[in-house]
Amino acid sequence: MRLVFVVNDAAVEIEAVAEDMTLVDLLRDLLGLTGTKRGCESRTCGACSVLVDGRLTRACRTTAQDVESRHVTTIEGLRGPDGDLSDLQNAMLDHGAVQCGYCTPAMVVAAEALLRRNPSPTRAEIRSAINGILCRCTGYQQIVDAIEATSRGRRAARSSGETASTAHSGSSQ
Ligand code: FES
Ligand code: FES
Repeated sequence: MRLVFVVNDAAVEIEAVAEDMTLVDLLRDLLGLTGTKRGCESRTCGACSVLVDGRLTRACRTTAQDVESRHVTTIEGLRGPDGDLSDLQNAMLDHGAVQCGYCTPAMVVAAEALLRRNPSPTRAEIRSAINGILCRCTGYQQIVDAIEATSRGRRAARSSGETASTAHSGSSQ
């Protein structure tokens, strides 16, 4: 099939791609976006999480056909407005919330999805939002702290009328 979709705000056109090629393979192998990880490849671990039209989606069980004409946002598209780290990514560094390279990108994607649909989540809601990103190496405490701090920072920036250093919102929302 000929696939036309949007990845991190850029239109992408691929002339010949198998309809059932997985999105994670498409992103990593055809587009070089290796921030999205292959983990279990069975919809269990969450390492392959991306946003499709703003919704948290497992790329290992999403096909090329599924993303036709859709907007996909990967961890590479969640940079700050200046191209540097986003406020969320900086908060994770500040709170010592950075885990391994498999789960951390997915944690950021899941947290960003949450904060965009719910700017003031409770700690329980934060835990629930990242629950699907499996990591047995952490108690998630610092990750929850970082997401909570980001939420506070964005709300404070909004109420003070300043331009928040939020992640690049893009056209996928
Ligand atoms: S690689 Fe997709 S859920 Fe594990
Ligand atoms: S899976 Fe990444 S630190 Fe546990």
